[in-house]
Amino acid sequence: MRVDLLAGATYNPAVMPSPVPTILVFDSGLGGLTVFSEILKVRPDARYVYAADDAGFPYGRLSEAVLAERVLAVMERLIGLHDPDIVVVACNTASTVVLPYLRERFSIPFVGTVPAIKPAARTTQTGYVSVLATPATVVRDYTRDLIETYAAGCRVNLVGSRRLAGFAEAELAGSPVSDEDLLEELRPCFIEDSDGRTDVVALSCTHYPLLLPRLQALAPWPVTWIDPAPAIARRVAQLIGLPVPRHEADENETMAVFTSGAGISVALRGALQDRGLPLVAVEDMPLLAG
Ligand code: DGL
Repeated sequence: MRVDLLAGATYNPAVMPSPVPTILVFDSGLGGLTVFSEILKVRPDARYVYAADDAGFPYGRLSEAVLAERVLAVMERLIGLHDPDIVVVACNTASTVVLPYLRERFSIPFVGTVPAIKPAARTTQTGYVSVLATPATVVRDYTRDLIETYAAGCRVNLVGSRRLAGFAEAELAGSPVSDEDLLEELRPCFIEDSDGRTDVVALSCTHYPLLLPRLQALAPWPVTWIDPAPAIARRVAQLIGLPVPRHEADENETMAVFTSGAGISVALRGALQDRGLPLVAVEDMPLLAG
């Protein structure tokens, strides 16, 4: 039986204790789906809540103070409702600011997503690495520290894209953007001079891997694209262990939650279903400060 919670019904969390962990995967929007898919591969038996704070999207435009307050408030509500065993903050823009606050406030483990600068520095042959992220992530102290610690010998090109996360949302919702618009956001990643050229692009916003086939097709030359999602999934498995034998995930135990009632297109509904999220609920939480 499939229960559709979108039509104004209130979600009532399961009262029966579950033999498997509940994993809350959180992002400002749909980008965290790229992380969710990888976690699902390592723990197909788990119960999942995929939470998209679409009322706050895009996080890239929020100040650090507003973002921290917002994520703490949303997390308070979601953790109270769903009682997860672990939370994955599948958002670089949030993780680079709020992880310390979350760990201080809640006792459950949090796994974050931060720019994959260390693997990028290990992978590059030319030393020309581009970090493609939101405008907020590229100016974070956290990102600067990662570069100083792991990529001091590289020429790191920080590219803050204002529009790419929104393009990824549109793509999944069935309204793909033009090649021209995508290329405009992508082109600054590609640097070439007499010493060499970019050979690695670290996708440092979880939305961007949703566009990967298009980015690959539009790239001026081939590069290695780094998506940290598989590494995050391995970290989750390390913390919560391997699948419970013979436990089949029940699709009624896994759901997507949105914080705005803005409506979900038929295409998006299909995309969520294809990714293992047939249930959709709204937990209305308007963003009061911007
Ligand atoms: N998916 C988020 C990240 O990884 C960012 C998108 C946004 O600006 O909300 O940074």
